Amino acid sequence: MVFKRMPLEDWFDKYQYEVDYDIGESGMKFFRVKDLGIDLDEVELRYGYHLGRPELRKKIAEMYDGCSMENVAVTTGASEANFAIIAHLVNRSDHMIVEHPTYPSLYEVPRSLEISLSLLRLKWVDRFKPNLDELRGIIKPNTKLITLTHPNNPTGSQITEKTLREAIGIAEEHDIHLMVDETYRDLTFDEPPPLAATLSKNAISLTSMSKVYGLPGIRIGWAVADKSVIEGIRAVREQMTICNSAFGEVIALEILKRRKQVLNDMRSKMMSNYEIVKEWMDQQSWLEWIEPEGGVVCAPRLRNGGSTRELCELLVRKYRTFVVPGYGLEMDEYFRLGYGGDREELVVGLEMLKKALEELSSSS
Ligand SMILES: Cc1ncc(COP(=O)(O)O)c(C=O)c1O
Repeated sequence: MVFKRMPLEDWFDKYQYEVDYDIGESGMKFFRVKDLGIDLDEVELRYGYHLGRPELRKKIAEMYDGCSMENVAVTTGASEANFAIIAHLVNRSDHMIVEHPTYPSLYEVPRSLEISLSLLRLKWVDRFKPNLDELRGIIKPNTKLITLTHPNNPTGSQITEKTLREAIGIAEEHDIHLMVDETYRDLTFDEPPPLAATLSKNAISLTSMSKVYGLPGIRIGWAVADKSVIEGIRAVREQMTICNSAFGEVIALEILKRRKQVLNDMRSKMMSNYEIVKEWMDQQSWLEWIEPEGGVVCAPRLRNGGSTRELCELLVRKYRTFVVPGYGLEMDEYFRLGYGGDREELVVGLEMLKKALEELSSSS
């Protein structure tokens, strides 16, 4: 079993702290502790409940119709929940299907665990929506888990309720689990489909405080699922992290109590940033895209084709601007642009992007 570095995370680790303009991040601008107005003085720095603080689990369960805290596992980000769910549900002799592109750990974990894997590729011609006939065709007798991510990272595509229900129907028919990464669901431009875990015992909802809530540093995410899956997550994580950060849980609970207000603020920032990106895209001639339908990321590509690596390296080194090259997401002809950050940073970052594109086209 070999755990290789993920090219996406390598790029982040190398450059994200070195730049002046970050227009590649995949979440809303992060908060500072002092912005939150949360008193952390009385936080007890002891081990926590292995599935998360009961008050936090209850608060989360309130968002999922028909679910109780027994259906909730709070984890060290969605990343840990993803790892634990795969490790619990899928053995080495089993098979799983991962929609691609997505956040790479969704497919890198099964690769590392030497689980047989098929990718359900999202295509430009389908506006990056999954083709469920193709999904039916790649299910094997030993398939145990299918994962979808919508709004999708990095394309920003969204599925309809009809597609979600159809995908769940396929999972039920084959008696397998469908995990939906709903990390960006609260930032869908239109009404999002229902939360997957509210629709079927075979469905698992996965999400995080990292993106929509601007709190990646607290490392809190969760899964909502049937109790047997929640117990499986507990068993896996007891061998990894045991419990969550005490500070992270307190902050997550306080923010979820103000959820409506926080989400309203985030949505209005995201929408006004999105208008800036859209106007910028409409006025330039080097790039093309499928417009996103939610989340805070999109994946443009070069009209002339080819890798975006040179562009991203030029941007980071000369223009001190951070975007994510497509090779880190196994889609070399694209790059990821994020619009969840500060408005001013986005505006200057896009100016830098324009300069880099001009420079490359004049030298080619
Ligand atoms: C779609 C998606 N899921 C999961 C994650 C993992 O997030 P975290 O572990 O910070 O909750 C990411 C991070 O980029 C993501 O984009």
